Amino acid sequence: MKNCRICNYRATEIISFGKMPIANNFLEKQNFEKEYFFNLMALFCDFCKTFQLADQPKPELMFHENYAFFSSSSKKMSLHFEQMAHHYFNQFLLNKEQSFVVELGSNDGIMLQHFAQKNIKHLGIEPSDNVAQVARNKGINTITDFFQEELAIAIEKQYGKADIISAANVMCHISDLASVAKGVIHLLKKTGVFVFEEPYLGDMIQKTSYDQIYDEHVYIFSLLSVINIFKPYGLQVFHVEPQVTHGGSMRYYLGFENQHIINKSVSEQLLKEKKLGLDVLETFYAFKNACEKNKTEFIALLHTLKKQNKRIVGYAATSKSTTVLNYCNIGSDCIEYISDTTPIKQGKFSPGVHIPIKTYQNFKDDMPDYAILFAWNHAQEIFEKEEEFIKKGGKWITFVPEVKILNMI
Ligand code: TYD
Repeated sequence: MKNCRICNYRATEIISFGKMPIANNFLEKQNFEKEYFFNLMALFCDFCKTFQLADQPKPELMFHENYAFFSSSSKKMSLHFEQMAHHYFNQFLLNKEQSFVVELGSNDGIMLQHFAQKNIKHLGIEPSDNVAQVARNKGINTITDFFQEELAIAIEKQYGKADIISAANVMCHISDLASVAKGVIHLLKKTGVFVFEEPYLGDMIQKTSYDQIYDEHVYIFSLLSVINIFKPYGLQVFHVEPQVTHGGSMRYYLGFENQHIINKSVSEQLLKEKKLGLDVLETFYAFKNACEKNKTEFIALLHTLKKQNKRIVGYAATSKSTTVLNYCNIGSDCIEYISDTTPIKQGKFSPGVHIPIKTYQNFKDDMPDYAILFAWNHAQEIFEKEEEFIKKGGKWITFVPEVKILNMI
């Protein structure tokens, strides 16, 4: 029995995905023996309505100087963050010369670079030093650290208070949100905006995209849970905007109570969540059944294709693929390799099931029979550049929202 990470109420077990490695721990053969595993189990708290992991590895095991995720690996994501920066710039920076923009988990500077280019005071806080270094090389002011209350106090002393504190695909990584909230209320100007966007629980439930559940994603938020999490700190959600990124995300705008006009998007989204049943346990039991069905169908499809001697590879060694491959126990006897554009992953093996990771060029030269679309959230970008694969008779396999071979003609 586990207590909720947010409110300490007794949380309910929803689904166990079994023994799971660190999703981004692409490793060399000599490290197979000492690979770290934990039990990936999802819980739902019926009190504060937060969907969460029962156990999460220590942050230092996930975010370090060999972190394998670089935000700028997708063109669409680069465009997304450029638009985000422009939106903040136009909407929230009233006195541009004296503004200060902070980003939590700023990665390779994909968003902050647009403020750096405009000479606006900014600071990225990024715990993984290798990605932080890429940002620093681009001239983006970045420190290597985990954001929490003490650091917020030190930043405020050195730079003053922030107009915007932004985070993208970061808040869902941090178990101790109390410390983040305390840091935010210290660092944020009275009229400032705390804005973050994260994979959205409603999308995960509707699409059975259980691959969003892995070590880094200790929470999958709904608006209802975000309201409950930040209310005790005097932070109020005043606007929400659904995003298409990461297979369906939600952007939450928060500020100090009574400082912002509450947009009708908040009440409208809460109504949608009620209709989706994001506040009741039954919805999550149904999700569990849908995950198990998806697993059975995925294994069956791959076995059928293997019996027909088809060659199957994976496209994009995403963190998400770690959950799918380990939960379904699919290894290199089934999937020959996974191609990925990230140099740090290439030549290594996927976490847990140890499928070789090869270069993108390898996929281009090879043209196998089937490719599993592990980066299904980038489907449009990928289909646009992989027309040749289809022309040569290749086929895509997806598993979100259901297991199927895509008919591209
Ligand atoms: P993403 O879905 O952001 O990964 P995650 O599940 O880790 O959040 O996809 C990023 C990964 O996909 C990254 O390893 C690069 C790879 N990728 C390709 O190999 N080719 C592509 O065309 C795209 C868009 C991504």
